[in-house]
Amino acid sequence: MSNGLEPVRILLFSASLRNNSLNTKLATLAASIIEKHGGIVDFATMSEFDTPSFNQDIEGEGDFPAGAVELKKRLLENDAFIIASPDYNGSVSGVLKNTIDWVSRFRPHPFNGRHAMLLSASPSESGGNPGLWALRMPLEKLGTHVFPAMFSLAKAHLAFDSDGNISDEALSKRLESNLKSFMELVEATKQYKTLKGLVAEYA
Ligand code: FNR
Repeated sequence: MSNGLEPVRILLFSASLRNNSLNTKLATLAASIIEKHGGIVDFATMSEFDTPSFNQDIEGEGDFPAGAVELKKRLLENDAFIIASPDYNGSVSGVLKNTIDWVSRFRPHPFNGRHAMLLSASPSESGGNPGLWALRMPLEKLGTHVFPAMFSLAKAHLAFDSDGNISDEALSKRLESNLKSFMELVEATKQYKTLKGLVAEYA
C-alpha cells in the first residue's frame, strides 16, 4: 500500500492441479488486484505443494515430502497466504488436505499465527463456498487467523471476461474490497508489535 510502509508479502495459490482451472483464474485475478494495491505476491501452483498420501510411518523416519517442505518454506517467507480452493463434494479437496496434514507435523507449527484468506470458484450456484467452511476448520485448528470474509465465485465458468476480470461489476468490486481489507489487516499485524502479541499464542 502506498503509505510508506514495507509492502505486505502474500503467498497466493490455487489448490487445483487442473489445466484451465477456474480457481487458478480467480487466483490470477486476485494476484493482479493485490499488486495494484502495492502488495508483493508470491504466486505458487498446487503442483509445487503436492504430496504423497500422509503416512505416519514415513513421518516417523523424519522424511518429509518435498511439497510439504516447500509449502512450509513459502509460508514462513511471506506475511500471509491466500488459497483459491476447489469444492469437492462440499468439502476441501483431498490434495490440499493431505498437504496441510503433512505441514502440520513440522514444529513450530508453520500455520500458527498466520493470516489467511480463502477464495473459491465453481460452476455451481454455491461457488464452492461449503468447501471453504471445511477448509477453515483444519487451518483454524492449526492457529491460522482465517479472514471472516470468504469470496466464492458462482457460475465461474461464465463469470470471467476475456481479460480475466469478473464481468459482474458488484462482484468484482466486492473481491477487490475484500482483498484490500485483508491486506490492511496483514499490514497492521506486521507493523504493530502489540497486535502481533495478540495472535501468536497457539504453540
Ligand atoms: C466437484 N465440483 C463441485 N462443485 C461444487 O460447487 N460443489 C461440489 O460439491 C463439487 N463436488 C465436486 C467433486 C469432485 C470430485 C469434482 C472433480 C468436482 C465441481 C468443481 O467445483 C469444478 O470441477 C471446478 O471447476 C473445480 O475447480 P477447478 O479445477 O476448475 O479450479
